[in-house]
Amino acid sequence: MSFPDIRPRRLRRTAALRRLVEETRVAPAELVLPLFVKEGLAEPRPIASLPGIVQHSRESLRKAAHEAVRAGVGGIMIYGVPLNEHKDETGSCGLDPDGILNVAIRDVVAEVGDSSVVMSDLCLDEFTSHGHCGVLTADGSVDNDATLELYARMGVAQAEAGAHFLGTSGMMDGQVGVVRRALDQAGHHDVGVLAYAAKYAGAFYGPFREAVESTLQGDRRTYQQSPGNLREALREVDLDVAEGADMVMVKPALPYLDVVAAVRERVTVPVAAYQVSGEYAMVEAAAANGWIDREAVMLESLTSIKRAGAQIILTYWATEAAQLLRDRI
Ligand code: PBG
Repeated sequence: MSFPDIRPRRLRRTAALRRLVEETRVAPAELVLPLFVKEGLAEPRPIASLPGIVQHSRESLRKAAHEAVRAGVGGIMIYGVPLNEHKDETGSCGLDPDGILNVAIRDVVAEVGDSSVVMSDLCLDEFTSHGHCGVLTADGSVDNDATLELYARMGVAQAEAGAHFLGTSGMMDGQVGVVRRALDQAGHHDVGVLAYAAKYAGAFYGPFREAVESTLQGDRRTYQQSPGNLREALREVDLDVAEGADMVMVKPALPYLDVVAAVRERVTVPVAAYQVSGEYAMVEAAAANGWIDREAVMLESLTSIKRAGAQIILTYWATEAAQLLRDRI
């Protein structure tokens, strides 16, 4: 050994030392739980590719929201799944105040009030017969500006149902600004926008498509981003912030940590990351085979996402992780 005798291992010798110098610690309040509610269900229904996650009935949704809040989870993101026969070309049941998503928002707000942050997905893909995030032109392409009009109305309907924050996840140009203006014109100045600012057209959303019974044929590459593009993500983020986004999100999370870190450097609004269905399913599948330690990988993945710069993490493990983290403090 040379002088001075510098030994980084000194800081790792005991659990107490390691705890003292730990740089990144995930708190339950930073986790947001995505929840699916399906129209007409009497009992929750399992989702095969998302072990442990269900399509909720209205009643079980309220319970799950309550449990999440009791565990200390910071927020809830609600996705509505209509009956198939209610899907149409324009996704009209997504705008209907009595449609499953708006009804569910009211249910959850009645259950948890302001004790948590109730967010709702502002996108048409769960409600359209073709499964795209917007309406289509005659030639079958996604019509950006016609879609914006629907998002504006959908956003106001969700605000009227009581959502605190709206998750604009459709990747249409100008969506944040249009939704912001519509909210303000309707007097909903306090309802915020979580912009799914950098959302990649990758293959990690497979299980989600089962969860929402997606009818999509083809892909979303004309509106979601190509996996290799980082600068384009910063452009998207800049635009969303300029249009009034209160928070921005990167999605997926773990395969895009460099994007999370770059966005964190760039903006002063809170940055979220979405640990998507495919990320969750991979860990669950490996753990079910006994190949990895499920809880350890769960917490390690959340720590990594936070270390990269996400201050808010959407994860299907939110309630369970919150309980585990609380026990560890
Ligand atoms: C679309 C939307 C998607 C997800 C959330 N909102 C999927 C898609 O683009 O098809 C995926 C979330 C996940 O995979 O967990 N509105």
